[in-house]
Amino acid sequence: MFSYCENQLGIVDGESFISLSECIREKLGQYESPVYVYDKMALSKKLTEFKKAFSIPISIHYALKSNSHPEILGLFNEAGIGLDVVSGGELSLGLKHNFKPKQIVFSGVGKTKQEIKKAIDSDILQINIESPQELIRVGQMAKATSKKVDVAFRVNPDVNPDTHPYITTGFRENKFGMDESFFPELKEILKTYESSLNLVGLTLHIGSQIKEMLPFKEAIEKTLVQYRQLQAEGYDLKTFDIGGGLGLSYEKEDAAEDARLLTEYGALISDIFKNFDGQVLCEPGRILTARQGVLVSQVQYIKKTESKVFAILDTGMHHLMRPCLYQAYHRVLPLVADTAKPKINYDIVGPICESSDVIGRDRYMQELKQDDLVAIMDAGAYGAVMANSYNEHGPVTEIVV
Ligand SMILES: Cc1ncc(COP(=O)(O)O)c(C=O)c1O
Repeated sequence: MFSYCENQLGIVDGESFISLSECIREKLGQYESPVYVYDKMALSKKLTEFKKAFSIPISIHYALKSNSHPEILGLFNEAGIGLDVVSGGELSLGLKHNFKPKQIVFSGVGKTKQEIKKAIDSDILQINIESPQELIRVGQMAKATSKKVDVAFRVNPDVNPDTHPYITTGFRENKFGMDESFFPELKEILKTYESSLNLVGLTLHIGSQIKEMLPFKEAIEKTLVQYRQLQAEGYDLKTFDIGGGLGLSYEKEDAAEDARLLTEYGALISDIFKNFDGQVLCEPGRILTARQGVLVSQVQYIKKTESKVFAILDTGMHHLMRPCLYQAYHRVLPLVADTAKPKINYDIVGPICESSDVIGRDRYMQELKQDDLVAIMDAGAYGAVMANSYNEHGPVTEIVV
């Protein structure tokens, strides 16, 4: 985990400590900035904690969209878990990293013919269907290959979790999933493609960065009613996929609070499914990777205006989109802490030619100087994967330590 030791921010594991600047120098042969640093030991521990939180058998399908660094995929593959993918590219990446096709579920509202073909050819566990037209497309393509393809319906349970509107996905106004009114049409399509489609389950994912248990409970219980109803109608359902979405506090790192959330989540899911006779799947992303990565950056300039003091970094919205996309909060910490320094109120910004390129506003923190190094914390999920080439500053480096 990332922590201070003798005023240096670095990676701590038991008795051992390595400062972030040392990690970067060791790994890259020289100091380089900006760079994402991932803590491999912490990733591994988090996965173990996640598994332990459940007292029922549960099949974990890592949402690879949260972080697809090859070493992280290698680590999770070795740990024996599966994947949730949302594109043909992610599917190819998963297969390249030796994930077993029968441990891969394919979600996403806009699957193209090529992507569906890849999923059918690869014999993955299930395609999570998001619309009637998608079901028809899969039916037609399955028929052409004479395979019977396993599909699950992604349900929109119309639950609105308390999270940023851009990351809710299970509310009636979102493009994701299907409510009960779709079911008659879906059943007709299943009948038409009886020999090519096999409805194996239901799936849901109500959003991300959710820290309350009630929305999960409500969404799963609503969907379980539909599941039982379909079974009663003769559909041989076997899988119930609860999606991902468990969040964390970005404002502070509190190990006890993190543990409490995970324990509550595990207990809730275990309780709901304690007598379930099928296979429970889940698709965690953020919870496995967010805390396990930081983005290290160098202060280029300190610029004072009448109303603000800006700390201008060599990284910004092109490497970490979350603050500008979701007004997300990330702690920014100096690599070398010095309590003797005065505290100053900064707007921490990037070099991109957009006023939205702000990593953090009004950060009252230790005085920063030109060339100082800072770490943007909890950047392991939805960080590097969303990086883009806007303004052509070049790709961001990533290292796993
Ligand atoms: C279908 C699906 N499953 C799982 C996830 C992972 O969510 P999280 O990272 O919040 O666990 C997402 C994220 O967007 C998703 O769209």
